[in-house]
Formats: sequence, C-alpha cells, structure tokens
Amino acid sequence: MFYVMTSREQLLQFFPKGGVGAEIGVAEGDFSAAILAAACPSELHLIDPWSHLEPGSERLDAAGFLGALHEARARGDGFEAPPHNQAGDEQHGRVLARFAGGEQVRVHRQYSYKAVAGFAEAMFDFVYLDGNHNYEVVLKDLQDFAVRLKPGGLLFGHDFFEDDFASREHYGVIEAVNTFLKRSDFRLLMLTWEPFSTFCLAISLDGFAGAFLTNLLDSEVPLIELPDGLASSYRDKAHPRRIGPPRRIPSFVSGG
Ligand SMILES: C[S@@+](CC[C@H](N)C(=O)[O-])C[C@H]1O[C@@H](n2cnc3c(N)ncnc32)[C@H](O)[C@@H]1O
Repeated sequence: MFYVMTSREQLLQFFPKGGVGAEIGVAEGDFSAAILAAACPSELHLIDPWSHLEPGSERLDAAGFLGALHEARARGDGFEAPPHNQAGDEQHGRVLARFAGGEQVRVHRQYSYKAVAGFAEAMFDFVYLDGNHNYEVVLKDLQDFAVRLKPGGLLFGHDFFEDDFASREHYGVIEAVNTFLKRSDFRLLMLTWEPFSTFCLAISLDGFAGAFLTNLLDSEVPLIELPDGLASSYRDKAHPRRIGPPRRIPSFVSGG
C-alpha cells in the first residue's frame, strides 16, 4: 500500500533536517529553493545541463544512446560539458546567482546520466528526479541514483502522470517507475495528489525515508492509504470548464 497526500511542497515539510540531497532537473531552481527552505539539507547537489537534450536521448533512440554511453564510460572516456546556448547559459547564471550565498548548494552543469559517475555510492539521503522525462532516461536515473542512496534513502520525482500532453511529449515516468519497482526491491511509499504528481520510493524504512514517514504519520496532514495496484492507473483527466483552460483532475478511474 502507499499513501496519497496533497502536494510536493507539503511533503518537504516532513523531511528530516540536515540530509544530503540531489535534484536532477533544476531549471530556475524554484523547487531547489523549496527544498532548502523546508528540509534544510546539509548538502544539496543541483544537476542540470542547462542546455538542449542530447540528440538520441529521446524516444526510440534512447536505449541505444544510453548503451553507447555505458560503453564509453567502460572505456574510460571522459564526458564533455553540455553544449552552450544563450538561454541555457543565462538560466545557469541565474541559478548560480540565486544560490550564491548558500554553502550547502553545489551546482553540476551536466546531464544526469553523465554526472552520476562523479557521485559516490551511498552518498545521498534523498534524490529528486525532474530532468529528461523519457522512459529510458527516467529508468536509468532511477537505477543510477538508487545506488547513490544511503540505505533507507528516499528516491522521489516529479510528473508521475499520463494525459494527452504527456503522450505528445513522449513522457514515460509512470512506466519507468513501474519497471523500476518490478526490477528492484524499492516500493512505492507515496504519491502526491495534484496535477503533475510526485512519487516517493524507498527500499526500507530504517533511514531517511522512515523518519520522513514517521514525521508525516505523526502529523494531522490529510492522507489517504491505497493499495499498490492502483498506482499504475493514475492519470490526470482534463475536465473542460465553461470558462478558462480545462481543469486537471488526478484520477484512478480508467476510461471516460
Ligand atoms: C521541468 S524542469 C525542472 C523544474 C524544477 N525541478 C522545478 O520543479 O522547479 C526540467 C529540467 O530538466 C533539465 N534536464 C533535461 N534533461 C536532463 C538530464 N538528463 N539531467 C538533468 N537535467 C536534465 C532541463 O534542462 C530542465 O531545466
């Protein structure tokens, strides 16, 4: 079974303070700022290429792309910095300036699947995934960073949803999480009940993830407990409104 609670920002309120964490996919650093404010980590590693997605890292090419990368790493090849582009350079600059005073923050301008080689095993209490949303890359990020988690660490990530937009953009987060759960000892601990839901995974409740869950269960925050089988049918449904854009309604109901 897993729990459902309202939002990813609220979830952070229950993180044990002083953890070592990483965020994959940072953009302007808005969620990084929320993590810093609520969870007071001792270290927060921000990983983003602030550049275009690499050719081949999307859609049907991605498995071959990641396989070639694996072989390059096995040969000991180094990885180049991501290609520069003006918008990326400017966003990177804004993030550096935004967190310049924060000694806990380390900024890594690189793709997650390349940056991962620079992190020690069992280093992180929590890792948040919000980078490339392609099935193969999400699965690879889950596998790579699971090894970088301390025992009892928390692996969580954004955009656990399916809808027309996700199909158009070739998102594969739900499928990647399901595959990862089948191939590992991780289990689904929690989903947030909001458009663009966040998922939380853990193997054991002996470390950070367990302390987080205890803090949450001791609180009065509204929670729902649901059976595991429901998670894979989670969808955002678009309800047309009389005025304004459609309302996104998180749903476990198939069809319609
Ligand atoms: C949705 S934004 C992240 C938003 C941020 N997490 C937040 O909630 O404020 C996605 C970001 O992922 C980055 N990205 C894409 N592929 C990536 C990869 N392989 N590794 C790390 N970041 C990646 C993009 O450059 C982009 O800035």
